[in-house]
This record gives sequence, C-alpha cells and structure tokens, in this order.
Amino acid sequence: MSLDDLSNVEPKSNPFRPTFGMPPPVLAGRAPVVGEVVEALDAGPGAPGRATFLTGARGAGKTVLINEIEDAARHRGWLVIAETANPGLIDRIIDDIPYLARDLEITEPKRRFTGAAVGPVALAWENETGSVRRPGLRRALTDLTELLNEHGTGVLLTVDELHAGDINELRVLGTTIQHCFREERNVAFLGAGLPTAVSSLLSDNVLTFLRRAERHHLGPLERDDVEYALVQPIKAAGRSVEPAALEQAIEASAGYPFLVQAIGYHSWRQRPTEQVISLGDVGVGIAAAHERIGRLVIEPALQELSDLDRAFLAAMVVDDGPSRMSDIRDRMGAGSALAGRYRGRLLAADIIVSVDRGIVDIAAPWMREHVRRQLDVALEELLSDEHQAIARLSRADRAFLAAMAVDDGPSRIRDIRDRLGGATADHASQYRRRLLAGAFIVAPERGVVDFASEVVREAVRDHIPRPAPIEPRLPGQEIDFG
Ligand SMILES: Nc1ncnc2c1ncn2[C@@H]1O[C@H](COP(=O)(O)OP(=O)(O)OP(=O)(O)O)[C@@H](O)[C@H]1O
Ligand SMILES: [Mg+2]
Repeated sequence: MSLDDLSNVEPKSNPFRPTFGMPPPVLAGRAPVVGEVVEALDAGPGAPGRATFLTGARGAGKTVLINEIEDAARHRGWLVIAETANPGLIDRIIDDIPYLARDLEITEPKRRFTGAAVGPVALAWENETGSVRRPGLRRALTDLTELLNEHGTGVLLTVDELHAGDINELRVLGTTIQHCFREERNVAFLGAGLPTAVSSLLSDNVLTFLRRAERHHLGPLERDDVEYALVQPIKAAGRSVEPAALEQAIEASAGYPFLVQAIGYHSWRQRPTEQVISLGDVGVGIAAAHERIGRLVIEPALQELSDLDRAFLAAMVVDDGPSRMSDIRDRMGAGSALAGRYRGRLLAADIIVSVDRGIVDIAAPWMREHVRRQLDVALEELLSDEHQAIARLSRADRAFLAAMAVDDGPSRIRDIRDRLGGATADHASQYRRRLLAGAFIVAPERGVVDFASEVVREAVRDHIPRPAPIEPRLPGQEIDFG
C-alpha cells in the first residue's frame, strides 16, 4: 500500500449538519437578508430592517439565519437578546438584561441599573428603598438602551418560533418595541415563525408591529446556491463529488435547506474513506435523506394541519402530478370558497404551490409519496360527518342553508325567501321540510328556522360561501353558491 492510499484509509469527518438549529458548513443564499438587517443596524433608528420578520416552512433555515444575524450584530458590538417565543418570554427578556449589561464591562453602574460586575443577587433593578423587583419590559429596555447609548451601540432582540408565542406576551413585546422605535432607541427586532401559524398573529390588530416589519419568506434556495452549499464543504474536507452525482443531489434537494444537509450527509457517509463521492453514494444518500425528512418534517407538518387541510391534500395526491382545483373540489364535494380557503392555507404552509390558474401541485416532488403514505385514509374519514352530509345535499338545499347562515341565530323564513330569490324561493317550504327531516335544521317557532347545532352552522359557513346580505328579491335571480 502506498502512502497515497494510506491517506485515504482514515475516514474524513462529515462536514454536513442535517440537524435543526445547527449551523450548516455553508449558509447558502441568505447573504441578502443578513446584509439588509446589518445595514439597518448601522443606519440608525427608523431604518426599515430594524424590525424584520422571517417566515418559512420547517427546515427552511429560519433558526440558523437568526443565529447568523446575531453573530453579525455581535460582531458590530451590538448586544443580543436571543429568545424563543414560548410562554414566559417577557420575564425571560427582562431577566436577561442585567446579565447583558454586565457583559458590557461597565465600570460605573448607572442609576437604577445595579447589574454590573456584582453577584447574581444584585443583578436586578433596585428601587429607592433598595428592595429588588422586576421592572416592566419597557423600563428594562429603556434603561438598557440609555446605557448602550453611552457605548455607542444597541440591542438586537431575536424571537424564534413566534407561532408558539402567547398572544398577550407578543402584544406586550410589539407595543414595547414600537415605543422604543418612536423614542428612536437603538433597538432592533428579528422574529421568525411558521407561515400558517403566524398568519393568525398578523391579523391581530395589536400586532400591527409585526405586519409592518420587513418580511422575508425563506423559500427554496437557488440552484447555484445549492451547488455551492454541497460542493464547498466536500472540497474543504478534502473529497470531491462526481459531476453526475452532484447534479442528482442538487435536483433531489429541490432547494430545501434541510435536504441539502441531509443528502450531503448521507451521501458522504456511504464510503467515507473513498476520495470521490459517486453516483451510487448519492443514490443511497438521497433515499436516506428523503426518509428522514418524511419523519422529521412532513409527518409533523401534516399533524399540524386540520382535517380539512388534509382532505384537500388527500384529494390532490390522487393525481401523479399537478391537480386541477375543479377536480379537488369534486373529490372533496366542496364549494369553491371552502376549497379556496384551504388552498390558501396550504400555499402559505409551503406544502403546495400554484403552478397555473386553477392548478396546484405538491410543493416538492419528494413530498408526494410521504403525503400519500401518511394520508393513507379514505378521504371521507377526513371530512367531518357534517361536511359530508352537507356535500351530499342538493344545490337548492344547500342554497337554503347558505341563506340561513347569514344570520348568527334563528332565521325568518321570509328573510330566507328574500335572500334566495327566484325559483328557489318559491320552493323554500319544500327545502325546509327536507332539511328538517334530515335534522340539519330545527323550527323553534312558526315561520322561523335555526340550525340544529352550531356545528352545522359552522360547517355550512365553511362549505358554502354566504350570499351577499339581504338583497331585494329579483325575479329569476338565483344565489350563486359555486
Ligand atoms: N441557507 C442554508 N444553506 C444550507 N443549509 C441550511 C441553510 N439554512 C438551513 N440549513 C440547514 O437546514 C436545516 C434546518 O435549518 P433550521 O433549523 O434553521 O430550520 P428552521 O426553519 O428553523 O426549522 P424549524 O421550523 O423546524 O425550526 C439545518 O440542518 C441547517 O443546517
Ligand atoms: Mg427553527
């Protein structure tokens, strides 16, 4: 055996990091976001990037991007408060502040701030009588930023997993940071969360703050970035990869950061003592990576979805490629409003993509098999009994229910007729009787009907778009309930 051969016997250590929250050997394609935030830190209060909000699916690289930006901020002398949004957030931030201040190596503790260079007991705020208490977040940040001003720097507050946050705490956080911005304090905020879950946060009025933040959605990486993220670590660790194998790895990753690491990792480890990573290695590596992503990402992601989200997906994966919305609606027995709503939710969750007008597809080729395997239940099982029952009703019966759903309580038959209009109104009593017999509705008094339960009302509202509220009846006019 020659010396050359010997150098190949020792396996070189695997450079890839297919672990959530672990920095990859190359953080590909995120330089623009890092640059924007850092620029905002330098630019001073009022710069837009001083409130930045990252969204992205599981494994898109939110946490590692936060870490990268924190490092960049520290490098510029900024203090960093790094938090995750689970309950207790506000108290944890407040408690962090004295420790941070101590890190500033202040020789002369200022004013109320007793944090510097003393034991943990004194690491809090004292009031005039000397007793220690916890200040509010606003006071804590005000004191800290006053102190930081003297050092010519600021504080970056990062909050990961915003979707797991307590809404009241997030409100406190939002309003406090807004106060700090208004007072032109050197505070910056960087948050991250899953897209579907944060959409409910964004619709909360108190969180206008988040809505106004610079938003970056971490989608798939560009092809060249993926190539660099794979090749550079392999080279740096002293191996190489066959061009055809590299091509296949890039394709199989679909630009998804977690997969880039997983495919790199599992391809590398097939024959770690060989110099060149072969097509065979990558083939096995891709299979292993896809299996893991199914378990770590797809499975939990599907678990977070509602039954109707899942029903929509189940109706999609009947196809081997893109699906028509009209087919999905037929398979679900759903109206266009309902199907449209779930389409929107799944788009936001990066589980599906819109490929053309009226056509959607599973977001990445590797997802379809996982989705199929995990939704291996009949579509009907995912639709609630109420939804199924409503889906089986005739058009006219459903129009009657839709006309009722305008009301939040009992409906007068007279109003229903007005809302229905045209021929449908003339047969209203017939539909009323059928719906009573089917236990969809009840008749609490003469001329009045109500839903048999709130579950039915909600199912109807989900299922059938509500007609425009009370319009005068025009002869021949029918409600369009898609
Ligand atoms: N830009 C990137 N280039 C290469 N690899 C990346 C990149 N971003 C993330 N990764 C890798 O992808 C994986 C997932 O990253 P990370 O944990 O940051 O995802 P996340 O979006 O925070 O996921 P979750 O929503 O589950 O918390 C890690 O293995 C990480 O090393
Ligand atoms: Mg994360």
